[in-house]
Amino acid sequence: METILKVTGLSVSYGHVEALRGVDVDVRRGQIVSIIGANGAGKTTLLRTISGMVKPLAGTIEFEGKPLPKKPHKIVAEGVIHVPEGRKCFSGLTIRDNLLTGGYVFKGRDLNEDLQEQYKLFPILEQRKNQYAGTLSGGEQQMLAVARGLMGRPKILLLDEPSMGLAPIIVNQIYDLIRQIRDRGITVLLVEQNARKALGVCDYAYVLENGRINLQGTGEELLGSDEVRKAYLAG
Ligand SMILES: Nc1ncnc2c1ncn2[C@@H]1O[C@H](COP(=O)(O)OP(=O)(O)OP(=O)(O)O)[C@@H](O)[C@H]1O
Ligand SMILES: [Mg+2]
Repeated sequence: METILKVTGLSVSYGHVEALRGVDVDVRRGQIVSIIGANGAGKTTLLRTISGMVKPLAGTIEFEGKPLPKKPHKIVAEGVIHVPEGRKCFSGLTIRDNLLTGGYVFKGRDLNEDLQEQYKLFPILEQRKNQYAGTLSGGEQQMLAVARGLMGRPKILLLDEPSMGLAPIIVNQIYDLIRQIRDRGITVLLVEQNARKALGVCDYAYVLENGRINLQGTGEELLGSDEVRKAYLAG
């Protein structure tokens, strides 16, 4: 399958902190690609750099064979949509209005069909559409954040730790949804500390350690690797 997103030699520093050091990542269209790594490995930095919120020191990011634009709103318009760590829902807006913010790039277009599509995928959001997002549970807020991302009609969805802080049964629901999203033809780049789940769902994966990719392979290969087992699957 063709490469949709190609990251080459990406380096990012925050002052003296080298967060990414020459990272190469290839994402094939239609796949789920996972990046696993511990706290501070550089996972969020990688996603923020792809979506234009952090400027790299070096390296290139190509999307569909062309360099990605530099400005975040132009990157969104290309179909590269970032669902941030910690969900970042607008707690004082209703669920419906939160969803509509995800479609802001289509100013002037009727977004009702898009809303209905999200309600089909996330029935809980339809039931509560007129309530404030702040009244949702953590798992429901994660679903809202993903649904808001889908309102931007992504070609690729960048998901930052969707399982963070959620009970196992809710994590399973979120992962089922990630599979359904891939099955609709949307490519997913998933970063996670939850290595077991992320490796279980993905078509291909990378291990990020101290800003460097030090292992890669299919989810199955990495689940079977001694190094991954010791460092990321213990307990
Ligand atoms: N805005 C910033 N200013 C300075 N240093 C930063 C900033 N953001 C991140 N860092 C540092 O860059 C490194 C990578 O951070 P990043 O948030 O990308 O890691 P992460 O893998 O997402 O971690 P976590 O699993 O805890 O979310 C860390 O050392 C972090 O302290
Ligand atoms: Mg992070």
